[in-house]
Amino acid sequence: MRQKLAAGNWKMNGTADALSELNELTQGYPEAAVDILICSPATLIDRASEAAAGSAVAIGGQDCHAKVNGAHTGDISAEMLRDAGASYVIIGHSERRDDHGETSEMIAAKATAAYDAGLIAVVCCGEHLNTREDGKTLDHIGTQIAESLPDTANADTTVIAYEPVWAIGTGLTPTLEQIAEVHDFIRAELVNRFGEETGNGIRLLYGGSVKPANAAEIFATSNVDGALVGGASLKAADFSAIIDALVAA
Ligand code: PGA
Repeated sequence: MRQKLAAGNWKMNGTADALSELNELTQGYPEAAVDILICSPATLIDRASEAAAGSAVAIGGQDCHAKVNGAHTGDISAEMLRDAGASYVIIGHSERRDDHGETSEMIAAKATAAYDAGLIAVVCCGEHLNTREDGKTLDHIGTQIAESLPDTANADTTVIAYEPVWAIGTGLTPTLEQIAEVHDFIRAELVNRFGEETGNGIRLLYGGSVKPANAAEIFATSNVDGALVGGASLKAADFSAIIDALVAA
């Protein structure tokens, strides 16, 4: 049985004031039947980890550099995230791929760096609208996950998030059939590459405009083990409703 995961991605949102939302969340979940994760801005990881200590909420980063240290001004290594209190890191989010030109090869190197630092990597994939309209979604996702996952990936160290780029922050979501098609495809690709145990053990999250109103039906969809949530993770009340839907799924 794969342990379900409700993951929040705060993106570039949140200063010290946002810790009150985190406190509300941690108070609501001293323990939980599902894994809960908040990927805060790097500047808050230290304080967020302290605030979340003793609760069911884990803290993660949103990106890391592939190297352990060195002359890379402005970058943050996986080891630094871990040192600040993170246990997860998002890798290869479409906003990193698009805004920073990150390739799947770079993402695989970052995932390896995350493993080396003892972090769980949440590796993202997803198609742009034109790719879907051209009928090339599965080809694109297949290539992205083949190239973005290191050979050493396993169920303890790796989570995959499928996030159609056109659904992120837009309020649009794919149909449940479209989500199931991609998730079933990713599952088959993972089993094919890593074998039954690892391939069936890696958790698959859906991301892109998940909110309290659509969470339950998404969580009832084939091979959906949880969600990566942007906007709706910023408010404890909204994210709690999504967590509760995942617990009930
Ligand atoms: P959204 O973002 O929930 O605001 O659409 C999801 C994500 O980008 O991880």
